[in-house]
Amino acid sequence: MASYYFLLFVLVTAFAFSEADDNELRPGFYGHSCPKLLSIVKQGVLKAIHNEARIGASLLRLHFHDCFVNGCDGSILLDDTNSFIGEKTAVANNNSARGFNVIDEIKANVEKACPSTVSCADILALAARDAVVTLGGPSWEVGLGRRDSMRASRGDANRSIPAPFLNLDKLKASFANQGLSEKDLVALSGAHTIGLARCSQFRAHIYNGTNIDPSFAKSLQSKCPRTGNDNLYQPFDFQTPTHFDNLYYKHLLAKKALVHSDQELFNGNPTTDKLVQKYANDNQEFFQAFAEGMLKMSNINPLTGSKGQIRINCRKNN
Ligand code: HEM
Ligand SMILES: *[C@@H]1O[C@H](CO)[C@@H](O)[C@H](O)[C@H]1NC(C)=O
Ligand SMILES: *[C@@H]1O[C@H](CO)[C@@H](O)[C@H](O)[C@H]1NC(C)=O
Ligand SMILES: *[C@@H]1O[C@H](CO)[C@@H](O)[C@H](O)[C@H]1NC(C)=O
Repeated sequence: MASYYFLLFVLVTAFAFSEADDNELRPGFYGHSCPKLLSIVKQGVLKAIHNEARIGASLLRLHFHDCFVNGCDGSILLDDTNSFIGEKTAVANNNSARGFNVIDEIKANVEKACPSTVSCADILALAARDAVVTLGGPSWEVGLGRRDSMRASRGDANRSIPAPFLNLDKLKASFANQGLSEKDLVALSGAHTIGLARCSQFRAHIYNGTNIDPSFAKSLQSKCPRTGNDNLYQPFDFQTPTHFDNLYYKHLLAKKALVHSDQELFNGNPTTDKLVQKYANDNQEFFQAFAEGMLKMSNINPLTGSKGQIRINCRKNN
């Protein structure tokens, strides 16, 4: 009897420890099962950016929009099914989220090398990092071992992804909901050093905004009319939109943010104003804070262990 209890104790303890291990993402997760993973993803990202520099920005944003909706679980990559409407047509994503084909191509190459082994969520996390590095930004070590969700929700995406007309308190609340701080908000918004935004997303800011340089507003008004041209694009960083640097923060100091939410970070709040000034003055400070923020964002609520699945095609459940 005593040995029976001892055995039970050993099993329960072992199980508890293996569960604890399973829940930790770790860089070496595929070290044996898919040793070529990192180089396959890197090659795919390099090829895509060589083809079109903007795609680096799109991949970074795709990861952000994945993580903010019930965790980094590849949910954004799922197409609609009979049982759910997915995230691709949510307000923030419709006619806007892009890079799905790049992830598909990388996934196909990963499947060839290591079938049914690597999650789409992990591929997206790696692709976002590689995109930032390729465009001149900082690097960080991506923990791996996420699994893919089996459902997606447009409603959840509508609720969780912050909109560009939010004020600072709402932006902070949106990030706090994900366990991210005010500092993370300011540092991660620096992602807008790359990429573009549609007219519809900054029209109110350039026509009615109270905290925008007048000549900057005017020059944008000449491109984005009061009505129409909703899908016309302008760069967030009008000087180096395909180079990852701290110019974004210098533009905020000059009241030359493209969207309202960005200028909210430098609009009289002492804490965020100081952070914007710090990152504008010191690229290294920005890079370090951005990498730290990305690590935190990439770790939001992953599915691990036996939860979810390893999708074979990122667009649908197996
Ligand atoms: C703080 C709240 C944020 C708001 C309100 C916001 C809003 C937006 C908007 C409105 C666009 C333009 C979309 C379009 O017109 O189609 C955009 C683009 C972008 N966002 Fe954000 N964003 C936020 C935070 C972030 C974060 C945390 C990241 C990544 C770490 C990020 C990365 C990007 C990138 C790279 C683009 C350009 C994408 C492209 O050119 O394809 N954003 N964002
Ligand atoms: C998404 O965009 C398409 C094309 O502009 C539009 O027809 C459709 O109504 C939009 N869907 C939603 C849910 O807004
Ligand atoms: C989410 O946003 C889209 C696009 O604006 C809208 O059509 C839809 O009704 C919203 N809500 C849900 C639950 O999908
Ligand atoms: C600017 O504000 C006015 C008054 O509230 C409103 O009628 C108008 O639609 C707004 N314009 C834009 C482009 O948001």
